[in-house]
Amino acid sequence: MMAHGAMTTKVHVLVPFLLPGLFFVSSLAHDAGLHPAVLLPGFTCSQLEARLTDEYQPPPGCGALKGGGWFRLWENYTAEKQDPALVACYADQLRLVYDPVAGDYRNAPGVQTRVVGFGTTRSFGTDDPAKKNICMKRLVQALEAVGYKDGVNLFGAPYDLRYAAGSAVFSRFVSRLKRLVERASMANGNKPVILVSHSFGGEKSLDFLNSTTLPWRRRYIKHFVMISTGAGGAVTSLRNIGGSSSPGNVLSYANTSRSFATLFYSLPSPRVFGHAPLVVTRTRNYSAYDMPELLAAEGFSGDEVARYVTVNLTAPGVPMTCINGVGVPTVEKLVYWDGDFGAAPRVVYGDGDGAINLASFLALDTVIGADQSQDYFKSILIHNATHAGILSDNFALHRVLNEILRAGRASNYLHVASA
Ligand SMILES: *[C@@H]1O[C@H](CO)[C@@H](O)[C@H](O)[C@H]1NC(C)=O
Ligand SMILES: *[C@@H]1O[C@H](CO)[C@@H](O)[C@H](O)[C@H]1NC(C)=O
Ligand SMILES: *[C@@H]1O[C@H](CO)[C@@H](O)[C@H](O)[C@H]1NC(C)=O
Ligand SMILES: *[C@@H]1O[C@H](CO)[C@@H](O)[C@H](O)[C@H]1NC(C)=O
Ligand SMILES: *[C@@H]1O[C@H](CO)[C@@H](O)[C@H](O)[C@H]1NC(C)=O
Ligand SMILES: *[C@@H]1O[C@H](CO)[C@@H](O)[C@H](O)[C@H]1NC(C)=O
Repeated sequence: MMAHGAMTTKVHVLVPFLLPGLFFVSSLAHDAGLHPAVLLPGFTCSQLEARLTDEYQPPPGCGALKGGGWFRLWENYTAEKQDPALVACYADQLRLVYDPVAGDYRNAPGVQTRVVGFGTTRSFGTDDPAKKNICMKRLVQALEAVGYKDGVNLFGAPYDLRYAAGSAVFSRFVSRLKRLVERASMANGNKPVILVSHSFGGEKSLDFLNSTTLPWRRRYIKHFVMISTGAGGAVTSLRNIGGSSSPGNVLSYANTSRSFATLFYSLPSPRVFGHAPLVVTRTRNYSAYDMPELLAAEGFSGDEVARYVTVNLTAPGVPMTCINGVGVPTVEKLVYWDGDFGAAPRVVYGDGDGAINLASFLALDTVIGADQSQDYFKSILIHNATHAGILSDNFALHRVLNEILRAGRASNYLHVASA
């Protein structure tokens, strides 16, 4: 049963000094009428703490914290800046180990981890000043300016970026998030929740919703607003697969990033990219169908290649609005003419949000919108909004905020195609 509470209207004026330049006037349900919102941020935005037990076998110089208490493992940019040698240590402690018997991933022996601040949006973020706008911070401020309050009707669901659906760790996340959503609803007059995600948080959300029953979803989820997530990955993720070339970055360690269960999540999928050549060399082209061959050519082991899966997003069966940026140059093809994947590729650009290709956004209409179980579906493309800027540039943030508030008011189940 969906609760469609009567709405009292009251004019809210967004105080300009809270959000410089963003002036927002609207007739909204007053605070008591807001549906509770639960936010899932992007890939790098959830923080992890670690503790090292006696079992941990540190690489040289990495044993200092063994036997000590919890410390910030991801992301600890400040410590890494002070002591660059720590980067290799954190990389070792962040890597996962695949257990072929259990068919699951786990932490390296002797490393215990936990997500920081589950339930709140306060722990979203990064201490890297260069990336300060990528983690929903301004969206949280914008929501607070219209009456949302952390812990009252605004909640955060940070997650362990390394684990995917199918892992025991992910199953525990699903249970926790279910309880969070239920409590959020109960504390707000049993109103169902608006789920809001950014980037990789969208894939997490869809996997979460897919792990719940349809009656549960219909009772507890008023609307799902998915921002900056395509239906089939992005070509740019082929560029840094299993280690980028930026030293000083924990995720640039191939042994670390290649070990994640989430490794294949953002690779271009055949459903979206078909047979288009995405990686070009003199002797062969690789399309989205050729990911296993490409991984092998890039030096992945047979076992690693064998774990490759095509990730297929499924319609959540709850009202959904997708909001994405377009009109920004986005990697569409990588040319390693001499077949040297270690060298910098020549890049051919196409349309998208600077990270995700337009084709991946447009495919949401067919992959999710056209699914029989999907009653209400709306796709909004915002011109000139970048992957992260959609949540931090005023013109786009304004639009996103309006859609979240609209989702709280909507009781229609119309099917809406692309705007
Ligand atoms: C970062 O790690 C260092 C130890 O490597 C620790 O002393 C510091 O408290 C950590 N930072 C945070 C924010 O936890
Ligand atoms: C989850 O998705 C799969 C397809 O990947 C589908 O077969 C299954 O029915 C979905 N589960 C639920 C509970 O919707
Ligand atoms: C990666 O791990 C292998 C063993 O699993 C090790 O031999 C190699 O030195 C590691 N490479 C780096 C860059 O840490
Ligand atoms: C790669 O694809 C292009 C078309 O995009 C084609 O002209 C070229 O012959 C292909 N190269 C190989 C080696 O198949
Ligand atoms: C996704 O779909 C493709 C093609 O339909 C299929 O081969 C693949 O096994 C699916 N992936 C998963 C994880 O079910
Ligand atoms: C997008 O940005 C370009 C370059 O700044 C500008 O010329 C164009 O008018 C913008 N389009 C929209 C719809 O804002």
